[in-house]
Amino acid sequence: MRRASITGWGRCTPEPVLTNEDLASVMDTSDEWITSRSGIKERRVSHTDNSDMATVAGAHALAAAGLEAADIDYVILATCTPDRQIPAAACYVQAKLGTVNAAAVDLNAGCTGFIYGLSMAQGLIATGAADRILLIGSERITPYLDFEERSTAVLFGDGAGAVVLEAAKGDEGVLSMTVGSDGSLAGVLTAEGVGTSFVGNEVPMRIIMDGREVFRNAVTQMGESAALALKEAELDFEDVDVLIPHQANLRILDATARRLDLDESKVYTNIVRYGNTSAASIPIALSEAIEEGKVSPGGNVLFVAFGAGLTWGASVVRWGDRVEALGVSDAKLPPTDRTGLELVLELMEKKRVSA
Ligand code: UT7
Repeated sequence: MRRASITGWGRCTPEPVLTNEDLASVMDTSDEWITSRSGIKERRVSHTDNSDMATVAGAHALAAAGLEAADIDYVILATCTPDRQIPAAACYVQAKLGTVNAAAVDLNAGCTGFIYGLSMAQGLIATGAADRILLIGSERITPYLDFEERSTAVLFGDGAGAVVLEAAKGDEGVLSMTVGSDGSLAGVLTAEGVGTSFVGNEVPMRIIMDGREVFRNAVTQMGESAALALKEAELDFEDVDVLIPHQANLRILDATARRLDLDESKVYTNIVRYGNTSAASIPIALSEAIEEGKVSPGGNVLFVAFGAGLTWGASVVRWGDRVEALGVSDAKLPPTDRTGLELVLELMEKKRVSA
């Protein structure tokens, strides 16, 4: 069976930064509370569409793989915050990148989107239905935040990450894959305001979350999924070089590592700088982990995630020989002179006026 191997990686993190102090200036919270309960110090706010971030991340991943846009035969965009409901945001990315030979599709599995995308890419490559896939996780989640709901608004941020997957030439690539869902728990993490449920009942866009219930399920499912993915790969925790988890909350990551009896030094985290970027968090973390030398040639990388649905999943990927990018791209977002706080204040004002 052909295995999908990661040959390119990249990210796009918008420049406007929103700090905990900024949030404390618009709602009843504090840097101390946010840091101690989540590990987050700041997050990014996008001034432009989701597909713009996805395109920039995708361009970097293509360059790192040494490929042209026309080489890609499938674009999978994992997101729950697309530019529009119709068409798929992946189609905008396809046009902006010029992946003229590619199919394009969005995938919504909440924060587990990247892992679900990886499982689909593995399937497409295994069957020969695709040879070179661009898998992007990208979220512009800030417009969905209710800045009057402090327990959710402080957790999320915007950004995009991407990988290129190609058929492995050696024994590298996706060694195992496990994904699952429980739709009976859909209500514990949901969004209002967009979708047919709101026809005739217009309400502002906003995320609603039962934080404690999500936390409880996250720790259990992240631990079980990671253990299952390792078992299927016939590996032990000592064989893992680095765990790249969905960056939901530092306390969830610590609890997961403890549950797995995994040395904390093997767990990659960057939540302190980006918050929870949903489906973008794993590919952003992966591209930073590679640049920081945390991924070694031939090493085993364990991915695990959990999110709205509820959904969960994990995968073990054996890295190939190369941890250096083959090329670089100068793709970047259009400049902005607005700060993260200014962008949030604009959003709050628009929501106030339309309410
Ligand atoms: O990708 C999956 C996405 N979701 C998640 O990962 C979320 C998972 N859940 C969590 O991360 C945590 O449950 C939270 C960070 C959301 C909340 O942490 P917690 O330790 O479960 O706090 P809590 O909800 O039990 O609230 C404790 C207190 C409450 O005050 P009282 O009732 O004890 O007086 C809250 O009102 O903290 C208060 N609180 C805040 N205080 C200051 C809630 N949010 C804030 C805030 N600033 N931002």
